[in-house]
Amino acid sequence: MPLQINNIHDYHEAYQKSIDNPEAFWDEIASHFTWKEIWNKVVHFDFVSPEVRWFEGGKLNITENCLDRHIKDKGDQVAIIWEANDVDTPSVSLTYKELLREVSICANALKSMGIQKGDRICFYMPMIPQVVISILACARIGAVHSIVFAGFSANSLADRIKDCTCKMVICSDFNKRGSKNIPVKEVVDEAIAMGCDSVEKVLVYNSTNQKINWNPELDIWWDDAMEGQSDYCEAETMDSEDMLFILYTSGSTGKPKGVVHTCGGYMVYTCYSFLNVFQYKPGDVYWCTADVGWITGHSYIIYGPLLSGATTLIFEGVPTYPDSGRFWKVCEKHKVNQFYTAPTAIRALMASGHEEPDNYDLSSLKVIGSVGEPINEEAWMWYHSKVGKSHCPVVDTWWQTETGGIMISPLPGITDTKPCFASYPLPGIQPCLVDLQGEELHGHNQEGLLCIKYPWPSMIRTTYRDHERCRTTYFSTFHNKYFTGDGAKTDEHGRYRIIGRVDDVINVSGHRIGTAEVEDAINQHDHVVESAVVGFPHAIKGQGIYAYVITSGEVGDHAHFRKEVLDIVSKHIGPIAKPDAIQIVSQLPKTRSGKIMRRILRKIAEGEYDSLGDISTLLNPECVEELKAGVKRLS
Ligand code: WT7
Repeated sequence: MPLQINNIHDYHEAYQKSIDNPEAFWDEIASHFTWKEIWNKVVHFDFVSPEVRWFEGGKLNITENCLDRHIKDKGDQVAIIWEANDVDTPSVSLTYKELLREVSICANALKSMGIQKGDRICFYMPMIPQVVISILACARIGAVHSIVFAGFSANSLADRIKDCTCKMVICSDFNKRGSKNIPVKEVVDEAIAMGCDSVEKVLVYNSTNQKINWNPELDIWWDDAMEGQSDYCEAETMDSEDMLFILYTSGSTGKPKGVVHTCGGYMVYTCYSFLNVFQYKPGDVYWCTADVGWITGHSYIIYGPLLSGATTLIFEGVPTYPDSGRFWKVCEKHKVNQFYTAPTAIRALMASGHEEPDNYDLSSLKVIGSVGEPINEEAWMWYHSKVGKSHCPVVDTWWQTETGGIMISPLPGITDTKPCFASYPLPGIQPCLVDLQGEELHGHNQEGLLCIKYPWPSMIRTTYRDHERCRTTYFSTFHNKYFTGDGAKTDEHGRYRIIGRVDDVINVSGHRIGTAEVEDAINQHDHVVESAVVGFPHAIKGQGIYAYVITSGEVGDHAHFRKEVLDIVSKHIGPIAKPDAIQIVSQLPKTRSGKIMRRILRKIAEGEYDSLGDISTLLNPECVEELKAGVKRLS
């Protein structure tokens, strides 16, 4: 069984085999990699505990598969191309040989600073080559990375550092992103001052040459740490099920949880899915515009492409800087063959520069992808016709932080595409729809809750230090199934269309925001008594955040109060979680047992007054009129 599927016959054959005999299927796929020792069991699982182990007994190091394995044939091929934020800064390329060398030096530096196998390192970094180098260095010595998106606040960063007791933080001095100059190191200092006692060292890359505060007890410059280190570092031997990384993600309750991924299965699946979903061919240039702080960056900027020996482009900037032609300019400049971005970026670029792609030579593009949220038909059509010139298949890829890799997606040139449909599962993936009682909805043309009924190699193993949370969140809703939290439909051919979250998670610009987290932040305001946050349709972001707030006494100037609430949310979570609308109310609709009726709040925020449903069961039905009147005032 080859790694790459070439035609529809191969797809059907691979899919069938993966269902009929998953162990034999994955055994063959995994044999394409470099293992220090072969596994003695392909998969062991129990979805009740849950307990999932892949390639048990196998020993490997993922970086040997990302780097060393390619040196013989592809040592001089470019592994990463870096495109800076500023158009005038020359781009940088590193070949596989050069990347291995840099990773080895950095790995030795980490070791000399006392980092050992199993230690956690937190990354709070801009999109620069050093982020890839240090992440791989971390994996090379068997340390565990926890990457935090550098747009999160000091408070969020501190929570994440504390939850997994990181021994080190790796950051830059500043980050120039678009026209902003973000004081990265200052945020790290602030976070550490919030009681991150586990941190022994802060490794700082001088990215912009600006002055920063320096704490000689903790801080060490990147260049000083690399100085004199050997350029050979033997890769630590890891068990398949040793932790590779923790990545925090929001859920419907409580603080973000640390999703745990392990070495062997994650390696096999990210490479397999990358090669097939993007149909990457030797010599192609692949570009995923995500940030490494999200799972998309982990799996499809770093690991999937490098495991496949690809050339992967990393971009420091934003789609609209210096203007809304930047993405297309980068595609033209580097002759990008596969381009992967989020619907929110597509919608923003469509709105600000409808004809803009025509000004660039995009003829190198072969496959264009979408990820993170449902893509609406208008955006899909524009992307397909204006960017893909009607000949590049659009791969609408559905997956999650917890799935580690792409689960449902067209295979370009192999299976067909249909606007708004993620379409078919990849080989090895067994999705199903269930009703509220958990009964599986067989056959096509169904609508229900999306579950996965058999394990796949890159699936979540646990939530860090809280296995019970993993069980209740994903495995207890429906017996013997992984529950995704998404609703979906199938068409007459069995293609999947993802509708969106059915829990209290809002998907803002492809980023998961938990309503409870935003409410907790808003409630920190001295004059806030209670708040309720829901999502509502937003033309660019997909979903926006709508906050209903009960205040105590007189808050004075409402505009000023709203600004204070936005500041609090920015401070507690980060600017991405700022509400788009804040409505001051005197009551929230509650059931007789005191539960907030979010369904009603959602309908009101959407302006769907006619379908509020039965409000007679409310404790306070009279509040509905006030809520409706308030929305009208806002718009
Ligand atoms: C949630 C996962 C997977 C990388 C980025 C997001 C939504 C993701 C799609 C898609 C419709 C999608 C789902 C999912 N989602 N891809 N192609 N179509 N919805 O990762 O932050 O873990 O969020 O994003 O609702 O559950 P994430």
